[in-house]
Amino acid sequence: MRKWIVIVVGAALLGSWLGFGQNALPEGPGRDLVLQKCQTCHEIGFVTRERQTRERWDSLITEMQAYGMRLTPEERASILNYLATFLAPGAATAPAQPVIQAAPTLSGAQVYNNCVGCHQANGAGLPGVFPPLAGHVPDILAARGGREWLVQVMLYGLQGPITVRGATYNGVMPGYAQFSNAEMAALLNHIATQWGNTLPPGQGAFSEAEIQAQRGKNLSAQQVLAARQQLGLR
Ligand code: HEC
Ligand code: HEC
Repeated sequence: MRKWIVIVVGAALLGSWLGFGQNALPEGPGRDLVLQKCQTCHEIGFVTRERQTRERWDSLITEMQAYGMRLTPEERASILNYLATFLAPGAATAPAQPVIQAAPTLSGAQVYNNCVGCHQANGAGLPGVFPPLAGHVPDILAARGGREWLVQVMLYGLQGPITVRGATYNGVMPGYAQFSNAEMAALLNHIATQWGNTLPPGQGAFSEAEIQAQRGKNLSAQQVLAARQQLGLR
């Protein structure tokens, strides 16, 4: 019972800390569609914090379609109307969130919810679009410098052509510098040990200090790509 309370409160706090929760979307035609379509790849906070003109929303939706969002023309029109109406410049912002002193640490499985829209719940990814983590994270960890690089890709993202287990990808992976060191360590320990993945011999669990050590480098996604090329992954 207590465990469930902690999980529910934790998820609510994470939502408010990442921006505004879905409560920040006013009622109106198209709202349900926005909630359904716009949080498969990222938090709805990416959307609720914006105040944009119709033209800018139009091009943002086109950008999301280039990232792989699928919409029928009717769905697209309905979403555009909603965003242009309720998230227009000058529209009311959500009430300020209370300052959170010490957000509870989420488990690795909970933090992984941010990844499932692309890498999928089973870690298999989508061939040619989102690379697999299942069967692949151990390869990264076993490469010389791979452990540090895995932290870097999580903090700073990755963009550009890569090959994973013989398949090519050329997409965008967002960075997650906003996660706390404890959450990032829990996430990495999760993806290193799920779906049959195991830590390579001699390697222990990720620590918070290991995450902190890679912060402040301010790498671009392209620099992370260049560093990946040194790992010799195939
Ligand atoms: C197929 C995955 C996907 C879907 C679905 C998706 N997005 Fe995105 N979105 C992305 C990616 C990738 C980024 C870039 C993240 C970054 O740069 O850190 C992004 C970033 C954004 C940003 C930040 C501005 C920018 O250009 O970086 C906004 C605003 C946004 N999305 C709005 C939306 C809206 C509105 C929807 C629903 C209509 C939506 N997204 C659905 C993948 C998606
Ligand atoms: C919007 C979709 C999206 C989301 C959300 C996302 N990723 Fe990715 N991820 C990608 C793409 C696309 C790539 C490959 C980038 C490229 O082609 O350069 C990638 C690459 C990676 C890689 C590096 C694989 C390699 O061999 O280079 C790791 C590790 C990874 N993601 C883990 C995660 C984790 C963990 C999360 C959740 C916190 C996450 N990703 C969230 C799309 C996403």
